[in-house]
Amino acid sequence: MLSILQTAAVLGYLATLVSATPTNTGSDKRSPLGISLPPLIPAIPGVTEPLASNAPPLPILQLPTPPLDSPPFTASDIKPKKIGYFWTGSGDNIHKDFLATVSLDDDTFGTIIYLTDVPSSGNSPHHLGTSLDGKTLVGGGLLSLLKTQDTAYYFDVSNPYRPAFKKSNRGILSSIVDEIRAKPEGGFFITYMGSAVGTSPGRLVETDADGNILHEWPEDVNGLLNVLGEQFSPHGLSIDFNKGIILTSDFVVPLSILKPTLGIQRANTLRLWNLSTRTIISTITIPNGGGIQDVKFIPGNSESAALATAVHLGQVWIIYPFRRDSNGKQGVAELLFDFGDKAKDSMAIYSDISDDGKLAYFTFTLGNHVAALDISDLNNVKRLDDPNETQPIIGPHYVKISPDKKNLLVTGYFVQAGDISVLNTPGDYKAHWIDILPNGGLSFNRTVDFEAIFTKDRGGARPHSSVIFDLTDPAHPKYY
Ligand SMILES: *[C@@H]1O[C@H](CO)[C@@H](O)[C@H](O)[C@H]1NC(C)=O
Ligand SMILES: *[C@@H]1O[C@H](CO)[C@@H](O)[C@H](O)[C@H]1NC(C)=O
Ligand SMILES: *[C@@H]1O[C@H](CO)[C@@H](O)[C@H](O)[C@H]1NC(C)=O
Repeated sequence: MLSILQTAAVLGYLATLVSATPTNTGSDKRSPLGISLPPLIPAIPGVTEPLASNAPPLPILQLPTPPLDSPPFTASDIKPKKIGYFWTGSGDNIHKDFLATVSLDDDTFGTIIYLTDVPSSGNSPHHLGTSLDGKTLVGGGLLSLLKTQDTAYYFDVSNPYRPAFKKSNRGILSSIVDEIRAKPEGGFFITYMGSAVGTSPGRLVETDADGNILHEWPEDVNGLLNVLGEQFSPHGLSIDFNKGIILTSDFVVPLSILKPTLGIQRANTLRLWNLSTRTIISTITIPNGGGIQDVKFIPGNSESAALATAVHLGQVWIIYPFRRDSNGKQGVAELLFDFGDKAKDSMAIYSDISDDGKLAYFTFTLGNHVAALDISDLNNVKRLDDPNETQPIIGPHYVKISPDKKNLLVTGYFVQAGDISVLNTPGDYKAHWIDILPNGGLSFNRTVDFEAIFTKDRGGARPHSSVIFDLTDPAHPKYY
């Protein structure tokens, strides 16, 4: 295990070896072979000074070795109407991470149309998001920080069958990219769960349409006091652009999943934000929640209610952002549904809600289970899956309802941070294209087996998340 200083020392030593090795034999002229790296954390007056004395020791950094190229692949010329984009890590963490473009049409289901490599490896590709115009995808690297690499990877998908890698960048104050939401005017809000060194507080990053980072919120004094005062590890992110509010949910301190650790530090909170001022209105607590991984507004709900998943409890709570508690504080949380044993302490519970606000789906990673709820009457929530069924899936996490609401796309993989970490969840590395039954229940059917497809080329594959394009109606393409 290397500390940041040890790593710097190793790099310096390697550079010495390189420059000491005679290469231009027969010539006295030697090209300079030393390397110079910019500082990992640039100095920002008034902001970074406390790091000098307060930064905790970094347990692990990996040498930023260059990634291996993968063998060429044969692109497909099919043009399916439904396309799945999968932001995927190479199984061996050595080959370049990549975006897989896959057919979701019935007749060509599972055909790999195109593969787009990024120029780095070992990022632990995490969430993927699309711009509203369907021209840009952005994927985050959960663990890019460990190789001191960029954390956000942008793709040009103006040709949806041939995504092109565009650029990458990183925040200055924050790292560990999680949820991504497009802004109506172009650009993104992105939760960065940790600080630049993986501790609390993280930040809510805002970009322009070109992906340039404009802000790392909060930036006001009250907001900074709020996030310094109580663990701020934003993972979940949902925005009600009509009512002008944002909810972020706090999951875990990223550094605490890396060895040596005294245990994963889970949060019990959400932050309610004012969208127009980008300021925190209040902190909402789910007592003993044990990691509030996800939060999503219920489309069409008259009170702008949202659903939040409490991972330790195995429960989903409802957040009323405009109600006030008995102390007059804005934002109230109430238990909505307890999923029972399979959901408790299952490391991760992620969710999606149908655009009519009637159905909600939840994945229990260590419970190996996908649950379905009919939430059309919030006072009488109905469970649509059989909690006792053994489902044909391992380690489900990312979940998306297809735009036509006929299928649920679930990836059987969460995070495997490797020997350096206490977070390694089993997975089947498949994309499950599950049929949604007329009542909203689920029928497992087709899969894309990423591990099998990429065994030889990339040491297997770790598909974390997906975006679905549905171009069935050319006049109304759906990008989700
Ligand atoms: C956001 O802040 C602005 C400026 O203080 C205020 O006018 C607006 O009502 C606030 N919006 C919400 C949803 O609280
Ligand atoms: C699931 O199994 C438990 C324990 O065997 C049982 O009590 C419960 O009724 C079952 N639930 C359903 C929905 O079948
Ligand atoms: C699986 O999906 C295909 C294509 O929609 C369908 O024809 C088939 O009946 C489904 N199989 C099952 C077992 O549901």
